[in-house]
Amino acid sequence: MSERVDLYSSYSNFSEQVLAAIRKETFGHDFGQNSWITADEYDRFISWLRLEPGGHVLEVASGSGGPARYLGQQTNCYVTGIDANESGVETATQSLRESNLSERITIRVADANARLPFEDNTFDAVTCMDSMNHFADRQNVFREWQRVLRSGRRAVFTDPVVISGPVTNDELALRSLVGLFLFVPPGANEQFIADAGFQLVQKEDVSENAALVAGRWHDSRQRHKDALVQIEGEERFEGLQKFFAAVHKLTREKRLSRIVYLVEKPA
Ligand SMILES: C[S@@+](CC[C@H](N)C(=O)[O-])C[C@H]1O[C@@H](n2cnc3c(N)ncnc32)[C@H](O)[C@@H]1O
Repeated sequence: MSERVDLYSSYSNFSEQVLAAIRKETFGHDFGQNSWITADEYDRFISWLRLEPGGHVLEVASGSGGPARYLGQQTNCYVTGIDANESGVETATQSLRESNLSERITIRVADANARLPFEDNTFDAVTCMDSMNHFADRQNVFREWQRVLRSGRRAVFTDPVVISGPVTNDELALRSLVGLFLFVPPGANEQFIADAGFQLVQKEDVSENAALVAGRWHDSRQRHKDALVQIEGEERFEGLQKFFAAVHKLTREKRLSRIVYLVEKPA
């Protein structure tokens, strides 16, 4: 197995000027995302959830907390985020406290694979952006979402690595340099969804956005190489560049596809 390269330790210095500049060049609207979502895309996914002000949303794998804050501000809902990365949760909690949003938006450490620390029927929606591929026990993840969601409510998630063409072992190794990855063939998510008792409402191929974002992220990082090497060191910098190049190529060629799924817990 190749050595892993750490992508998510960047949460501890997320507000560094160079990282913020790269996010701006990559995403246009930087709301703190560390994935392949852009604001226009997230707005569209959020609109599918039929949320009302005052509702309560669970964001699984909340990263820096930026997407939870964005979601809370767009919808006037309460948002609870969970992430396994302690530095992400710390960064998020501090920034929410500083902006007086910590009553409405809270982030805590939790493993998405495990039993979630919430009562049954707690949430009006679940969101999970570009993170499902990191959860080894996908069946249990869906069962837990089903348990904590209220009846008739929806979850939206993206899976950025559905195998949809020929991929070599070296390409898979590069694509998964940053941690644990579960690659699935077409149809597998649909089966997990059905087995957990969800109805699939909609699915769409959203690979193009990931190809675009990964390409921009790679190129922006290259332009800021000197400053980044100060933070990451030469080896990690080069490793991450290979990772972003692999995401760009495999997604653009649709050999790994990024699919968004909207599911509903039956009323
Ligand atoms: C690609 S990032 C996406 C973060 C965020 N959703 C966003 O759009 O910016 C994937 C996230 O999954 C988190 N993660 C990985 N494994 C996890 C697990 N087992 N439970 C909870 N979070 C996990 C990582 O810490 C990381 O923040």
